[in-house]
Amino acid sequence: MNEKVLTRYFDIPHLYNIDVYLEKGGYEAVRKALKLKPEEIIEEVKKANLRGRGGAGFPAGLKWSFVPKVDKPKYLCVNADEGEPGTFKDRFIMSHNPHLLIEGIIITCYAVDIHLAFIYIRGEYEKIARRLESAIEEAKRKGFLGSDILGSGFNLEVVVHRGAGAYICGEETALLESLEGKRGHPRLKPPFPASVGLFQMPTVINNVETIANVPLIILNGADWFLNLGKPKDGGTRLFSVSGMVERPGVFELPVGTPLRKIIYEYAGGIKNGRKLKGVIPGGMSAPILLPEEIDVPMDCESVFNKGSMLGSAAIIVIDESVPIIEVLRKVTKFYSHESCGQCTPCRIGTSWINKIVERIASGKGGKGDIEEIERLALQIKGRTLCPLGDAAAMPILAIVNKYRHELEAMLPQ
Ligand SMILES: Cc1cc2nc3c(=O)[nH]c(=O)nc-3n(C[C@H](O)[C@H](O)[C@H](O)COP(=O)(O)O)c2cc1C
Ligand code: SF4
Repeated sequence: MNEKVLTRYFDIPHLYNIDVYLEKGGYEAVRKALKLKPEEIIEEVKKANLRGRGGAGFPAGLKWSFVPKVDKPKYLCVNADEGEPGTFKDRFIMSHNPHLLIEGIIITCYAVDIHLAFIYIRGEYEKIARRLESAIEEAKRKGFLGSDILGSGFNLEVVVHRGAGAYICGEETALLESLEGKRGHPRLKPPFPASVGLFQMPTVINNVETIANVPLIILNGADWFLNLGKPKDGGTRLFSVSGMVERPGVFELPVGTPLRKIIYEYAGGIKNGRKLKGVIPGGMSAPILLPEEIDVPMDCESVFNKGSMLGSAAIIVIDESVPIIEVLRKVTKFYSHESCGQCTPCRIGTSWINKIVERIASGKGGKGDIEEIERLALQIKGRTLCPLGDAAAMPILAIVNKYRHELEAMLPQ
């Protein structure tokens, strides 16, 4: 399939303007959804197997169905923090087509009985935040937001909230803390946000791309969506491709498109005809794949079976000119800097590993350094409060394991 669905109209100038969006059939999905029963929408999204696009790949419809039907305020938080290194597809959606996201928000909130939604956007996206705010105002003026939307009796307000630059605030419970005005420290789960979330109320948290797919499912049906992708993983994905390729960028392709094809066909192959050294397939937290491991369909299950993860579908391509120690430096520096410090293994372990890696990089590494890195990473893995610990340990272990010879050659024999 070469046909774009989510990004179909993205080349049209000023699509972010509501009149242009309406000319392209904008807000038809909302009109259709408001005539359905909320349960019907949840069922359709469940049937579509729309898996979360933020990282964990959890089925969206199932998540919504966990929200208790209680007479309490409930909230939607759209995760627009886009902090995972290598990921730049949410900003592509929000800057080109903010109304698609707003449509998705309206339908999701109607399905789950939510009347207040937040878009938690990373602070660096100031221009996009303003674009979202103007789109919200436009939608309000046309009667798609506010009270009694299109005469349906349904009310909804949307607020844009800017983050302040911490990667950890993309983790859903840290995001809630931050939104409540506190330090962005992840919460222990359970309870899960669906039952105890923002201000202790039931809360749905979904990624921008996840929510932007909802109008497509409502307009075209779950079967259509499923047929685009894989039976357990429907639709398309927006792959952010960066690194040593001829044509980096965002590519909308069916879920399950082979990784090799994305790199060599869509992204034009490795820059300057060099040889491939490795690929990070799902954002920095995803373990690296060797060149011989890239014949993998890019869906959650297949990438997991290869020992990595699809994550945010951010593909980082590394060629033979890059010393692996430089990749390890970037990874370990990032996690040691971004650890929130609540758990000892993550706080101490990530910075300790980074110190060893810096030592090796400066030519002062010692015998046993690689084993020490492995020992420390294994002390972090599975022993922390939030998934950042594993997200740091797993890529480090994969690099050390797969490029051991290159690292060992840097140490005294
Ligand atoms: C350290 C960390 C950072 C994360 N950053 C983001 C992020 O920037 N954007 C995002 O959508 N999800 C991020 N996530 C995943 C969220 O916790 C959550 O799973 C996601 O927002 C749920 O939405 P989805 O089900 O639609 O993917 C992060 C997770 C962790 C552990
Ligand atoms: S794993 Fe790291 S980032 Fe997550 S809560 Fe613990 S210290 Fe904070």
